[in-house]
Amino acid sequence: MRRIYLDYNASTPIAPEVAAVMRDAMEDAFGNPSSPHWASVPAHRMVETARGQVADLLGCAPEEVVFTSGGSESNNFALKGAFFASKRAHRHIITTQIEHPAIVSPCRFLERLGAEITWLPVDGTGRINPDDLRKAITPDTILISVMHANNEVGTVQPIEECAQIARQHGISFHTDAAQSVGKIPTRVNELGVDLLTIAGHKLYAPKGVGALYIRNGTELEPLIHGAGHEGGRRAGTESVLLTAALGQACALAADLSDMERVKALRDRFWIALQERFGNRVILNFHPEQRLPNTLNVSLVGCVGAEVLAGLDGVAASTGSACHAGRIELSPVLEAMGVAPEVGMGAVRFSLGHGTTDEEIATVVEALSNVLPSNG
Ligand SMILES: Cc1ncc(COP(=O)(O)O)c(C=O)c1O
Repeated sequence: MRRIYLDYNASTPIAPEVAAVMRDAMEDAFGNPSSPHWASVPAHRMVETARGQVADLLGCAPEEVVFTSGGSESNNFALKGAFFASKRAHRHIITTQIEHPAIVSPCRFLERLGAEITWLPVDGTGRINPDDLRKAITPDTILISVMHANNEVGTVQPIEECAQIARQHGISFHTDAAQSVGKIPTRVNELGVDLLTIAGHKLYAPKGVGALYIRNGTELEPLIHGAGHEGGRRAGTESVLLTAALGQACALAADLSDMERVKALRDRFWIALQERFGNRVILNFHPEQRLPNTLNVSLVGCVGAEVLAGLDGVAASTGSACHAGRIELSPVLEAMGVAPEVGMGAVRFSLGHGTTDEEIATVVEALSNVLPSNG
């Protein structure tokens, strides 16, 4: 059976250059990076080199990068850290209806602790309206969190405009950039953000490592209290192996040139689907403001999971689930107002550095065996 991986938004393979750095870390850097003796030297150097590499990619100072266990922890840290650092009696947070569960769940948790959460709606392409954000701000707003690019449909939010609104009101602005880092530019000063989430396994580093960019002066209570690691912001001895891997992945991610190829391939994929299936395929995202690698299409009249089951050996994702015979759309497609009969056929193909023309041609062929062709 042929195996074709089109689920790069779920996770990426580890890049060979990243694996090489991990091998070095395992062999040379066993010491505790914080120890005061010779054994810490290679370990400390590798962690700080990695911090510099992450900072270079984001265009920030190295001390503004805190290593975490991944995107979920970074998001939790941003939200809970801002909530617990605030001395206000009433704490209001603004986010959107299409965030990843790693934003939604901590917001729900904070609601139980008395936070008020505003969930901004999105249009049919998955974008928020900055005017809605402006109107949602109250004197109690302590944080605004808007994801940079959506994991399911790839829609990119108007972060620069939203961050500027936050700045005008003196409110911290966080963006979950787990899906955008390595795919589109994510320099923090160009985006204007105060907090930004990175997840290693979305950019060819291993799972279990990430980072949170924290602009100097932004107050966050640590999630993990303990010794003074990471400038006192996240206790726990750093994993040299994982931080070095993330650093190397960020160094590679600075070169976005392959994303042009991936984007062209993704666009040819869509054209081939349209030629083959006509109006029985529908795009679920913004026509321009979207990630270069993501193709979320609805195969009208089909159930996404059944289509994928029929595509033997093809790894991709669906935007719906079947519970007790009922089709449930993902909250993202629901927030976009996608009709159930369209959304139930949603399939997310996400391409990456390893995707070839031949693989896409094979998938289009394989889809023809699952769907009736156009005329
Ligand atoms: C947008 C987004 N945020 C956060 C996460 C969570 O990242 P991690 O798996 O590293 O915890 C993901 C992973 O799917 C994601 O796509």
